[in-house]
Amino acid sequence: MTSWTIRTKLTFWYTSVFGGALILFGLLTYLAFSYANNKSIDVGLEEEAEGIAYCARISKDSLKDYVACISNEKDERSSEKYTAVLDQNGNLQFRSGNLTDNHLPLTSNQLKEILSGKIYFKTVKSSKGHVLRIVTIPTEDNHQLIQMGIAINNNSAPKIFLFALVCLGCIAVTGSWFGGLFMAKKSLRPVDNMIKELQKIETEHLGKRLTISPAKDEIREISGVINEMLSRLENSFTHVRQFTTDASHELRTPIAIMKAGIEVALSRERDISNYQQVLANTLEDLGRLSKVVENLFILAKADAGRYEIHKDRMNLCPIITEITEQLRLIAEPKNIFVSMEKTEDACIEGDELLIRMLLLNLVDNAVKYTPPNGTISLFLRKNNGCAKIIIQDNGIGISQEDIPYIFDRFYRASNARTANNTGGGLGLSICQWIVKSHHGAITVESDPQKGSAFTVTLPTS
Ligand SMILES: Nc1ncnc2c1ncn2[C@@H]1O[C@H](COP(=O)(O)OP(=O)(O)OP(=O)(O)O)[C@@H](O)[C@H]1O
Ligand SMILES: [Mg+2]
Repeated sequence: MTSWTIRTKLTFWYTSVFGGALILFGLLTYLAFSYANNKSIDVGLEEEAEGIAYCARISKDSLKDYVACISNEKDERSSEKYTAVLDQNGNLQFRSGNLTDNHLPLTSNQLKEILSGKIYFKTVKSSKGHVLRIVTIPTEDNHQLIQMGIAINNNSAPKIFLFALVCLGCIAVTGSWFGGLFMAKKSLRPVDNMIKELQKIETEHLGKRLTISPAKDEIREISGVINEMLSRLENSFTHVRQFTTDASHELRTPIAIMKAGIEVALSRERDISNYQQVLANTLEDLGRLSKVVENLFILAKADAGRYEIHKDRMNLCPIITEITEQLRLIAEPKNIFVSMEKTEDACIEGDELLIRMLLLNLVDNAVKYTPPNGTISLFLRKNNGCAKIIIQDNGIGISQEDIPYIFDRFYRASNARTANNTGGGLGLSICQWIVKSHHGAITVESDPQKGSAFTVTLPTS
């Protein structure tokens, strides 16, 4: 049944239920018909027996002849009739010629009941092998018993009725199978249409959507859910395409610069100092390139959920102190003043490597986008069960138009490109992923006149 289509399954169940109901109905009808048929035989028999009893009352002498004649009679179903007249002890007085047995079987108990006025019906098998339906009644004076029997072997009415029922049942079940198939096909037509529409949707045309049916049914609901899923897929495909385009662009530019530099250097013979300069420039570009590739690798792994995060209870205080020391070293060439303010301790559940990467990216930005002689301040505070790290600078700041985009991959504000052309625009995307994977948040407040303040909030443990 597993390989059956929904259409076949629906039709099968529908026909089975219908067929079951039909069998039950047929059985009850057949039983009712058989009962009514037997009843009509009994009524006929009783009337005949009463006729003989009447004859016995009118003239006892003609009774014998009358009974003898009965064997030549047949009822309306052409069934043979049998008669026996018994005395009150159950002994045979006379019988119809066709009755070979002494009389129709009767026990002493039944005899008593009949003599007390009860009309007694019974179905028996005669010595000739006929199935007989018999009735026994007492005469009016209670001196004799009249037995009247009829062969019911050739009572074909119930058989004909059963045959008709079976034929009609078969026709009805066959009809319901085809009717069920038709109905299932009709009701599943929207699903067929949906399949055809879905087959037309390819990765290049994810903008297409399923037609929503006007009827408020399950098909409409499924179409809605599939359309929502297609929108999500389209978004992520667009995202991946954009990412690939941006990444290739970001890698192509430094490679083209390096290639051009080397080609110019090789175009004619030069001093050794010229070659050294070209090599130094190429090395610098390669450094930038490898940083972009490294960042891309981190983000790709993060997207695929394959970056293994090992969280442990860690104190942010010593890390902030270390980062401040590193910051002082990289800020020194620009004569940037670095200050730090922190609480005693702030413990979180985190991956130390990633937290360091987060802070280094933020202090790297602060140094990159703060002009010489500027100031960078680091704060570590505890607030409402959260640790807050603020990295504040008085650098070039970020305009209000740029702020919503700075966490996007490869996004760089135009003033940042002018101030420092060494970034790939991936640092803050990584910061955001790290903060999210630690169930925290990162926000920025910035003013191009005053500088920027990045706040990282992480839940303490
Ligand atoms: N402290 C800051 N001051 C001013 N602008 C900033 C600061 N931090 C980030 N920005 C802006 O946000 C943009 C994105 O920063 P992000 O760290 O993602 O990239 P990047 O520093 O340019 O390159 P990368 O970090 O990949 O080397 C920057 O290009 C800059 O425009
Ligand atoms: Mg950066």
